[in-house]
Amino acid sequence: ISDETTTHDRSDFVVVANRLPVDLDERPDGSTAWRRSPGGLVTALEPVLRSRNGCWVGWPGVADREIAPFTHDGLRIHPVRLGETDIEGFYEGFSNSTLWPLYHDVVVKPTFDREWWTAYRDVNRRYAQAAAAAAAPGATVWVHDYQLQLVPRMLRELRPDVTIGFFLHIPFPPVELFAQLPWRRSVMEGMLGADLVGFHLPGGAENFVVLARRLLELETRPVTGGGGEIRFDGRIVRVGAFPISIDSADMATRARSESVRRRAREIREDLGNPEQILLGVDRLDYTKGIDLRLDALGELYDEGRLDPSRTVMVQLATPSREQVEQYALMRTSIETQVGRINGDHGQLGRPPVHYLYQPVARDELIALYVAADVMLVTPLRDGMNLVAKEYVACRSEHSGALVLSEFTGAASELEQAYLVNPHDLDFVKDTIVAALEQSPEQRRARMAALHAQVMANDVHHWARTFLDTLAVSGHATDEPPHE
Ligand code: ADP
Ligand code: G6P
Repeated sequence: ISDETTTHDRSDFVVVANRLPVDLDERPDGSTAWRRSPGGLVTALEPVLRSRNGCWVGWPGVADREIAPFTHDGLRIHPVRLGETDIEGFYEGFSNSTLWPLYHDVVVKPTFDREWWTAYRDVNRRYAQAAAAAAAPGATVWVHDYQLQLVPRMLRELRPDVTIGFFLHIPFPPVELFAQLPWRRSVMEGMLGADLVGFHLPGGAENFVVLARRLLELETRPVTGGGGEIRFDGRIVRVGAFPISIDSADMATRARSESVRRRAREIREDLGNPEQILLGVDRLDYTKGIDLRLDALGELYDEGRLDPSRTVMVQLATPSREQVEQYALMRTSIETQVGRINGDHGQLGRPPVHYLYQPVARDELIALYVAADVMLVTPLRDGMNLVAKEYVACRSEHSGALVLSEFTGAASELEQAYLVNPHDLDFVKDTIVAALEQSPEQRRARMAALHAQVMANDVHHWARTFLDTLAVSGHATDEPPHE
């Protein structure tokens, strides 16, 4: 596939995630190239893996490609092959049409399909086997996210010598919602194969411990500092909250560079030198509330509270899970909304909403963060939301404002943001106006607090805290549970 291809030795530190940090891009002329994969998991873990010299086990994003382990841009990559039917049953089906909506507050109705469950189990076994093959004796293996919840237990059966961590990057639902899942016991037991199970928020950790007690009737106990311990299968499994973050220093440094500053000025000019720029940046997902923020903006223009010649919006949406019906429907509905607002309020060459359905290069994204006066992050539910943290990290000068949904994990840390309930449209509208009209003193005070929070709590701090806890959790035996 590339001249970087090499085989390599087994690793002491292995990350296992559904997706590799790079996707294989197959071009129409038959050539191939690797490009960055979408999503916050990759944004967070890539710098962690780079600094720890481990290897990454995952899927290259295309069907039926058998690719030998190789090194790309300094990262050791172990591809896992998925066929068309695996992608349908495991990825589009069980992962993204059952678990994703179930764990995100059933924002859309989850589908429970027995064949998808079989596919999920089979593919999880394949990831466990790939991880077992990549791990050196006594290695630390860190398994990630909802697509791979059965891997910890399967891996432990194959490799009792390794220390296993599991981290969930999306919300872990309340007991009543999780209990809908017909395969709830197997999923819980899968995760309990780990030595440490981590969530973003204490609420998720709490839900997990309660389920272990009520559903599996396991003995549990709280631990000082949050989380708990669960006795399972002759071992003690530690559970805790570890809010994920970004490579804040890298983001802030890039945002200060002259080339990014210049590009930010150019962007403002390209947009027609508006007084104020609103920005949204998301994977196109029905959990992100892109439709709600467009509703708010449309009404503000309709009512004359915002002037489309002075305040414009840029919405970037990365294509995501396009074969899943709900994603296709959401795309159509967002594009109709954008068309309506531009049709009603645009002038030739001056649309008030600039919408791109495409991933953009990292420095271009950072220039947009630098250019934006108000960032709109309005999910109905989101495990963390790294976009909010990225925007804040780019504001070293303490300018700009963040409008942030209460239903994101980030809201529990970014208390100085303009917090909104995205279901309350009038409040969202009032808050957008307040953020646009804030005084310079308010702006500086709020952004200084937000910026300091994100700079002090970066992704390296997250990884260190998780892995240090894992190191003392690993191989805990039945007696006695430690505090
Ligand atoms: P999720 O993991 O659900 O996609 P996050 O907000 O946690 O949500 O992470 C999204 C990541 O994807 C961020 O690092 C963000 O910068 C990146 N991203 C989102 N949209 C785009 C885009 N259009 N172009 C480039 N990067 C994007
Ligand atoms: C979220 C999930 C990740 C996933 C990413 C992109 O961040 O937590 O596990 O990789 O979205 O989604 P995709 O389906 O394209 O991998």
